[in-house]
Amino acid sequence: MQLTAEQLQKVESLIDQMTLKEKIGQMNLASMSIVGGFDVSFEEMIEMVTDGRISKEKFGEMLATSEKDYHESEIRDGLVGAFMSDDPKLSNRLQKIAVEESRLGIPLLFGFDVIHGFRSVYPIAIAEAGTFDTELMEKTAAMAAKESRCSGVNWHFAPMLDVARDARWGRVSEGAGEDPFLTSEFARAKIKGLQNNQEELTDYVAACMKHYVAYSASEGGRDYNTTNMAVSQLYNTYLPPFKAAVEEGAASAMASFNDINGIPATVNAFTLRRILKESYGLNGFVVSDANAIRECVVHGIAEDDMDAGIQAANAGLDMDMGTEIYLHNLEQAVSAGKVTVSVIDEAVRRVLSVKMWLGLFEHPYVTENSMDRFRTIPVEHKELARESAVKSIVLLKNEHETLPLNPSQKVLVVGSLAENKEEIIGAWAMSWKQEDCVTILDALTEQGISYHYHAVCGPDGELDKEQLTAAMQTASESDVILAVVGESVSMSGEAASKADISIPGHQKELLKAMKETGTPVVAVLMNGRPLALAWEEENLDAILESWHLGIEMGHAVTKVLYGEYNPSGKLTATFPTMSGQCPVYYNHPNTGRPGSKSKFTSKYLDAGFDPLFPFGFGLSYTTFAYSDFTVTQKLDRMVYEVTVCNTGNRSGEETVQFYVRDITASIVRPVKELKGFQKISLEPGECRTIQFELEKANMGFYNDEGAYLLENGAFQFFAGGSSAQVLMQELRVEF
Ligand code: GLC
Repeated sequence: MQLTAEQLQKVESLIDQMTLKEKIGQMNLASMSIVGGFDVSFEEMIEMVTDGRISKEKFGEMLATSEKDYHESEIRDGLVGAFMSDDPKLSNRLQKIAVEESRLGIPLLFGFDVIHGFRSVYPIAIAEAGTFDTELMEKTAAMAAKESRCSGVNWHFAPMLDVARDARWGRVSEGAGEDPFLTSEFARAKIKGLQNNQEELTDYVAACMKHYVAYSASEGGRDYNTTNMAVSQLYNTYLPPFKAAVEEGAASAMASFNDINGIPATVNAFTLRRILKESYGLNGFVVSDANAIRECVVHGIAEDDMDAGIQAANAGLDMDMGTEIYLHNLEQAVSAGKVTVSVIDEAVRRVLSVKMWLGLFEHPYVTENSMDRFRTIPVEHKELARESAVKSIVLLKNEHETLPLNPSQKVLVVGSLAENKEEIIGAWAMSWKQEDCVTILDALTEQGISYHYHAVCGPDGELDKEQLTAAMQTASESDVILAVVGESVSMSGEAASKADISIPGHQKELLKAMKETGTPVVAVLMNGRPLALAWEEENLDAILESWHLGIEMGHAVTKVLYGEYNPSGKLTATFPTMSGQCPVYYNHPNTGRPGSKSKFTSKYLDAGFDPLFPFGFGLSYTTFAYSDFTVTQKLDRMVYEVTVCNTGNRSGEETVQFYVRDITASIVRPVKELKGFQKISLEPGECRTIQFELEKANMGFYNDEGAYLLENGAFQFFAGGSSAQVLMQELRVEF
């Protein structure tokens, strides 16, 4: 996000004209769901008072407030800087008050959670990152920016950049998985897609990278839980995607709910000021997560609202989402000398800079024809959503070439996820329409595939015994069973941590019954997190990981099932054999006793050491062989070279992955770290020699002082089709 000298000058002259009250107004994100209207239920409000999330006064005020209070008087007084809305008419109405009725006419920002698509919802991030196609990731973000800006949304609470290593945490669905490098590449693509198409005002938005920082390290994978780690771990694992996003010009960041080593991210001057603003150079602003300033009282780091507000402002938190603590306390805090005007001015400068960069001062409103632009989804948006969906699918098992299917086969479909439009979208998609959604059954019907269907059961609720009996009967007359099983959308995302991540409900019972019939069973998984699939891997003929793919779910799954597209997706997060293996991830330290079959090594008596499916894993309908792997040391880089051959009988895409290991260093380093990837297409019998150059400058690591170290010594270099299937070379490296 870069401003011209003229724009910077305008920002400064505005600040000079603003009263302290008006400045604090820019630091206030009013949101109905927490404060103003009745988007929260009465019971939730009672709960919020009891656990201190809202004060008694606020509770009274909320009760007194008319339904759907839009803070219109506060906007008119210049006391609101941003609002949450995806309704263009509401946004224009509130914008009109801000621009034409307030003293200085400063336009509002309109933020919204657009995490994986607005109207044309594409796959959840854990899936889309598995395409290992950064151009595609950028295009889908650009599509979401276009569609949402025409609905008045000019600020996305995205991308979510939490590196997640514990699949019990429901929000693994929202990020790009367990690897810092892949998540950093995802970050770059998303920031560019959201922010860089500035030729047209309606084609770009301000990104808000989140959740800053280390929220995904919540102890036990339990959402909102405490996080504790060495500072070197923070730098080496959780910060890199945010550093990458700032390098691409991210316009804002959202501080996370969790405390980091005892200091909540919302009031953490070390992560907010020292690292994000001073060291990384964020020139936009930082907003709190919903209600998080008030929750600092609940954390036990602040005495009361005033104390929480003072700590947050001084720590570098520029905007308050939803509590109005800044609005009601900062003026007094300044008079008491607890917060300086320069702290306020810095926050306001950052907020106004984003508004200036968005062109809101010249064009604050959504035009009528913009609103109509995406009343129906353009074909190219559907095609892009479908491309992302198809490429996100991961083939986990395919015994006896059960897949691809042949249209002449008699198919039995079981599992209610096959028909349920609500369940294909994935967590954090709010602006989609039923009419755009294609389920697996819709697509099978559309393609004229003759099939029988018995829902039998879903991720929750009861198993229909009559339907099960009927399904078993039909199974015996079918060539193949498609069991569409997994999680409902509500089982992943925020506040959706699970202690047991095996396939939920009665679905395993259904799978076992289908297995008993002796007809080949293909599990089509629809889920938002890695699942513990030991029994399934052992007993089913094929397993297709198809996640929550968005509106084009059905088309994508059937294209892969019937071989129209050869699956190319790879896992971005490790799948455990059992829930108890979590957290489990590929880029772990070696320990002094690496897990193995011998007793006194690091493993579980009942789950061993190895996970079920590793990071980077994904099969194809063809096969690939790797050979002739060499690594050459140049002055400033290492040059990998490997030959990849398509040894099967159909064309296919392979993501060649490049890893490194620093064998001995001044702190223990992971056994592998992804440093690059290339996705290639090969015809049957075709071989290609791939080259990858790793700059030596990218082979270092941070220590506890945040110093980046490059240490001479022996390194291992890897190339392969997953983190577990690699060729290796070892060299001594001099920096
Ligand atoms: C939520 C989430 C955050 C989201 C925000 C606004 O609590 O943590 O990801 O952007 O509130 O909806």
